[in-house]
Formats: sequence, C-alpha cells, structure tokens
Amino acid sequence: MTLNGKQILLIVSGGIAAYKAAVLVRRLKEAGASVVPVLTKGGAQFITPLTLSALAENPVYEDLFSLKDEAEMGHIRLAREADLILVAPISADLIGKMANGLADDLASTTVLAADGPVAIAPSMNPVMWANPATQANVATLMQRGVHVWGPADGDMACGEMGTGRFEEPEDLVARAEAFFAPKPLAGKTALVTSGPTHEPLDPVRVMANRSSGQQGQAIARALSAAGADVTLITGPVSLPEPFGVRTVRVETADEMLAATQRALPADIAVFAAAVADWKPKTTASEKLKKTANEAEMSVSFTKNPDILATIASAENRPALVVGFAAETENVVENARAKLSRKRADWILANNVSQGAVFGEDSNTVTLVSAKGTEPWPKLTKDQVAARLVQRVAETLT
Ligand code: C5P
Repeated sequence: MTLNGKQILLIVSGGIAAYKAAVLVRRLKEAGASVVPVLTKGGAQFITPLTLSALAENPVYEDLFSLKDEAEMGHIRLAREADLILVAPISADLIGKMANGLADDLASTTVLAADGPVAIAPSMNPVMWANPATQANVATLMQRGVHVWGPADGDMACGEMGTGRFEEPEDLVARAEAFFAPKPLAGKTALVTSGPTHEPLDPVRVMANRSSGQQGQAIARALSAAGADVTLITGPVSLPEPFGVRTVRVETADEMLAATQRALPADIAVFAAAVADWKPKTTASEKLKKTANEAEMSVSFTKNPDILATIASAENRPALVVGFAAETENVVENARAKLSRKRADWILANNVSQGAVFGEDSNTVTLVSAKGTEPWPKLTKDQVAARLVQRVAETLT
C-alpha cells in the first residue's frame, strides 16, 4: 500500500461532486492513508459529516469557532500534522479564497496556516472553470506550488459537457501515490527551452511566432515533479513562471542560445522552443518610418543559430537531448532526418497539418529515436510531459 503511514487532511467543499468524497475516503484508506476530513458549510449540503466520519474512522472537523473542535485539534495543528492537504472537491469559491488569502472558516484558515504540500481537485460547471477569474486564481495557486489535480473533461451533473468534472477518486489516489513516490530524477539537472523568440526589427517591432510556451512549461514542471533541478529558458510568453523551476527569460534566439550554454552542464535537455530560424540582418536603432512614396519595403534576414544542434554537438553535451519537430507532411521521415542532422537522441514529432497546436491544450506526438518510432495517442500537454519524463527516467536511471 503506497500511502502507508501518510496522513491526509481531506477538505471537502461545496459542489455536487462532494458525494464522491465518500468513495475518495475509502480509496485513500485502502491505499494505506489515514484520513482526517474537514467539511465546509457548502460541502455539508451535499454529504453528511456522519458519512465522512464513519468512512474515515476519524472525527470530521467543521467549525472554526467550535470549542470542541478547537480543543480537540486546533486549525493550526490540523494544517501542520498532515503529510498532504487535499481539497477535493474544491469549489470556485474556495479557489478564490485561497488565491486571495482569505480565511473566514475552518477550511480556508487551515490551508492558509499550512506549511506543507497542498493539492486541489476542482469541480465546477465548465463555464465557471473557464472563467478568467477562476483561471487567474488557479494560475496564482499553481505559481505558489499548489498541485492542481484535474478537472477532467466529460459530462457534468449540471447537464453540460466540458472541462470541470471532478477527477475520479481512483485517479486522485493515483496522483497522491505519485506525489509520495520516490523522485526518479532526483540529483539530475535539466534544461528546457520554451516559447517563441522575438527578433527585433527596430526598437518597437519584432518578428515573432504564435508559440504559447505551454508544452515547454508542462515539461519543465513534470521534470521538476520527478525531482530534477530544472532551468527553464523561455522566450516571451504570457504564462506565469512555474513553481520550483529556475526561469530565465530571453527575447531572441541569440539570447536563448547564450542562456542555454550558461545552463550547462545538464543531464537532460529538452528543446521545446519555437526558435525563429531567421532574424533581421540589422536592427534599426530608431523606429523605421514609412515614407509617402514607397509602397513596399523589404527586410533582409540572416540565419539564427540552431540551439538544439549547437548544444547536441557541444563538448559538454547533456546525456539526453530531446527536440521537437512540427511537421505538416512525412512527419516521421522528417523527424528522423532531423534526429541525425541535429544529433538529438529523441525527437517528439507532431503533425501540425490538421490545424493549430499553438495555444491548444492537447498535442498528438510521435517519439522518434534510434530505437524506433512510438506514436502516442492524443494527450493533454501535461500528459505528453508526464510520458516524456517517464521515458527520461527509464532511460537515465
Ligand atoms: O528545424 P526545426 O525548427 O524543425 O527543429 C525543431 C527543433 O529544433 C525544436 O526542438 C527546436 O526547439 C529546435 N530549434 C532550436 N534552434 C533553432 C531552431 C530549432 O533549438 N534555431
């Protein structure tokens, strides 16, 4: 039982998925954990304290101002004694409270008083989940190191379809087990390039591309979760810096190469950046003016360094060099050619002929290496990252 000896403080907040907390308690206990439940007022509308208490074989704490609860186990002790605080399900409201440091009931006070790991499993209507307010709050929590487990896609109790479904209790237990599992990449260093590059034409204009940086950041986070010491070298993106990862922000391909070289030596290098192949030959020191009688203008470009190829041939080459290849035709053949031309160990090839991958949540890739070709199903970018890291761990350990 992989959760043996672990104490999990399970905070159950309001939402129809609260009924699944009963199964979650059972599964956590079956995996060996001891579970101390905390129930919010909203949560208590959906599941009774008696159910949780009977399944957890522990008292349920509900009230910040209850003399009995505070005397038995004060909120600070509740927060500190747990090996993991799991808020499942967490409502949009409690996410908002956590992001803003509000503490007006036992659940929110306990998470604010926590100095250990906290994971949340959101469950809400897809429109509420997609709301920029919720997304901004979740991004804030992730940046502070809160683990966000789910939500999943699918049909919802409210009758709508989309992202917002509570992760199945079995999946949450799997995530808890992974969380406590040994870190296979502990002691390893990794660098990840990510995002686009901006190549300046003049002080106000750049040549850019639509890379969002999502895939690269997901890989940086997954490597870090597996215990690696990660440096993320990112071009301009609008994503928050991932927690626990050293982030270096750059603009141009030249800066990205320099930062990458500074991050060496490393055991693992993943090149997920969409580096501009070309940069303007000269960068005007003043803003380029349009003149009345010119209908056209042209810019000369010069080649950028190939960061992946440079690092893969460097003296202090990382043990494992992974590149990406976005292709529209002959995906595997082109990726294989790239593998040998750039001297990478693996190429993750994606077929971009069906439309945009940039900015999307999912990715369909094929892992191409000297050993062969491994097509992966359509996965979220987080899942692609998790699989890649699993392969990295198998190879390097
Ligand atoms: O040649 P292509 O751009 O398709 O190669 C893609 C792979 O090479 C990606 O891993 C990308 O990060 C890397 N690359 C690079 N420097 C460049 C161009 C691509 O590191 N100048």
